[in-house]
Parts: sequence; C-alpha cells; structure tokens
Amino acid sequence: MPAYAVIGGQWGDEGKGKVVDYLARNAHVVARYSGGNNAGHTVINDQGEFKLHLVPAGIFWPHTTCVIGNGVVVDPSALMSELAGLRERGVDASRLQVSPRAHVIMPYHVALDQLEEKARGAGAIGTTGRGIGPAYMDKASRLGIRIADLLDGATLPGRLENVLRQKNRLITGGYGGKPFELEEVLATCATWAGQLRPYVKPVDETLATALTDGKSVLLEGAQGTLLDVDHGTYPYVTSSSPTVGGAIIGLGISPKAIAGITGIYKAYTTRVGAGPMPTELTNGIGDLIRQRAWEYGTTTGRARRCGWFDAVAARYSATLNGFTSAILTRLDVLDGIKPLRICTAYELDGKRTASFPDTDELARCTPVYEEHPGWDQSTAGLTRWQDLPKGAQRYVDRLAELIGAPIAVISTGPKREETIELAKVIP
Ligand code: IMP
Repeated sequence: MPAYAVIGGQWGDEGKGKVVDYLARNAHVVARYSGGNNAGHTVINDQGEFKLHLVPAGIFWPHTTCVIGNGVVVDPSALMSELAGLRERGVDASRLQVSPRAHVIMPYHVALDQLEEKARGAGAIGTTGRGIGPAYMDKASRLGIRIADLLDGATLPGRLENVLRQKNRLITGGYGGKPFELEEVLATCATWAGQLRPYVKPVDETLATALTDGKSVLLEGAQGTLLDVDHGTYPYVTSSSPTVGGAIIGLGISPKAIAGITGIYKAYTTRVGAGPMPTELTNGIGDLIRQRAWEYGTTTGRARRCGWFDAVAARYSATLNGFTSAILTRLDVLDGIKPLRICTAYELDGKRTASFPDTDELARCTPVYEEHPGWDQSTAGLTRWQDLPKGAQRYVDRLAELIGAPIAVISTGPKREETIELAKVIP
C-alpha cells in the first residue's frame, strides 16, 4: 500500500520542509494532516527560498497534487497570502486541494490564543499565537466553523451569532478584550469563501483514488511527536496530533494504507516555547549551535532552545509511531564540535531510567550522557556516505541504533541537493 508518512521525531523544527521537498520527487500526492500556520517549513530549491506554513512542501514539483486534510486548522488569510507569495514567484499552486471538513481559524481564535497566553502568566505555554488551540477547542466542543460552512452561506449567520455571543462574553468579561461584530466577521467569511472555493475539493476521494491506483502518497507531518496533545509533554504541547495516528484521522485514510513511517530528527535537539527539555544547553555550545544553525522560529522568529541529542526521547517517538526508518538533518551543524554528547538515559529521583516519563517527572530528569569524539572536517553539502568523516559515520550509526530505526536519509545542508540518500523512503 502506497502511503508514506514523514513525522517529526522531536519537538518540531526537524527540517520537514526540506525533506518533504526532496522526497516529493517520487510522490504523486503530498498531504498535510495536522496543525496549522503555527508550522514553518523552510524550502530551498532551484526556484528559490520559501517559508511555508500551510501549503504542503511538495508544491514545487509540477507532478504532485497537494492536499490540506480535514485534520488541519486553516487560517484562510494566512493561506491566501502564502498562495499569493508563491504565485508572485512563479510557483503554480493551482494543484492545491483543501478539505471542506477542515476547521477554520476564526479571528476570535487568534485573539483568544493571545489573551489566554497572557492570562497564563508564568505558566504560559509559549504558543505561536496563531489561534491553533482555540480552533481545536471549538472543533472538539462542536462550536467550530468548517470550510464547508464558509461556502454554504445559508447556515453560517445563525451559527456564528451563537458562537460570537459566547466568545464575546469570554473576551470582554474574562479578559477585558474587544468584542467581535457579527457583520464584520460575516463579511470576512464571505471574502474567504470566494477565495477558497477554487481549492475546496473532496480530498478524501482524491486520496482514496490515489491509493487504490497505487500512486505514492506522502503524508507530511507538522510539529513533532513530543508536541502531540496526547503523547507529548502536556500541557506544553500543541493542540493536534502530529503522530501517525493524526495522519489517519487528519486525512481519512486507513492505517492499512501506510507502508512506511519515517521519523525526522535533527542531529541535536531543539525546542521552542516552554516545557521541560532535559538536554538543553544554556552555555556557549547551545549558543554556538543556535547561531550556526540559525535556530530561530520560521513562524515567530523566537530563539529556539538548543541541546544535545536526546536518545531517550527519540526512542520514545520511534516506538510510539513505529518508525520504519529515520532521517537525520543538520548533521553539518555539529562539524568541529568536540566532544559530542548523546543522552542515553535519565536520572530521575536518584534512579536511572531509559523510559520517557510524563511531563512533571521529565522536568526532574537529568541526562546521562555518552561522549563521542566528533569530527574536524566539514560535512556541509556532502552527498555520499563514504565522504563523511569516520567520526560522523560513527555518530550517525550510534543514533540509528539508539533510535531503533535505520537512517534512510541524511541532510547536510538546507538546499534540496545537500542530501545523502542511503535508502528510498518512497520506492
Ligand atoms: P501552538 O501550536 O501555537 O498552540 O503552540 C504550542 C506549543 O507548540 C508552543 O510551545 C509552540 O512553540 C510549539 N509549536 C507549535 N508549532 C510548532 C512548530 O512548527 N515547530 C516547533 N514548535 C511548535
């Protein structure tokens, strides 16, 4: 069966944009299944450098159909400005299909996300402020507005009136914010409906037909396993399911369709936003990694927290998703950093453990490291395994062993061709 999932194995920002752009060469369909414009996927190819937030990173290959599934929350303004940006630079995005079942990030979701974060004070999650949490909340509480509702103008005013009454009560009474006017929100919705209509297609049928016809479907993850609302470091997580289960629900496909599940990992660890991160480096090495790799958020510009590779967390992700292979990115960032360290266990309350615990316990964990000599030579831009320095080969081999999945691809730079392919992720 021909669906292949590519899933973040850490706290997001593993380099999924670059990798999906690379792998989409062999895909007929590329489908996003969760998250929204909290994601920031950087792609550098022969058409230039692009920052994508909602549009699947397969869009640069003319043979692909790109899909935004029902599990994604869509801010239509963000999507339209992304599409306009692509169009201006000569990228044809007319092959994009958006599910009518996807929920809309409404203006009040963005306002509430920011107001709620402020009210959390010291307990803030560090959300991207894009309205993600409030939109998924409304989806679960059956107050959400779906893209189908925008297009079918008949039921929208009544539903929105009800929803706005509730939201305005919260915004003004709870947070002292400014209320939303029904007529204004309806006018915005009408504009969005007109802009979205050409892209709205029954994507579950598109996917079912592609899978039946034996076409390759690439399931593009957003965020990472450790930000999963169920399996991540709750409450310091996003509000969706970046894990493989999210792909099934977020696109409406059968688990039987998935032939390969590939985890993407950086050669070290980063995290943006609050929450425990046992291997965080608050010293010069952390700063060096941040500067060298420009570890600042694609969406918010925030500095990312940087640290050593956490193999306990990596193995947890691999087990949870059942990774059949792994992709390692940004290996070149570690060039010349000696020695390197890998966290292989935690000390928790005086005991050693190789299990990934729940959030409060994770915050009490200190990492147990093994040391690696590293390497002196540059690996930047290398495309063949045999050209990697022996120290880098040994480091990669050790990570594969600890993750528990063979490394299929190594990324040695941000450009599409700066890639070592050891095995096919999509045959
Ligand atoms: P939200 O998804 O905006 O609600 O943010 C919740 C948490 O997930 C925050 O810690 C964010 O920094 C983090 N987060 C959300 N999207 C991404 C991403 O694409 N990469 C890395 N972290 C993310």
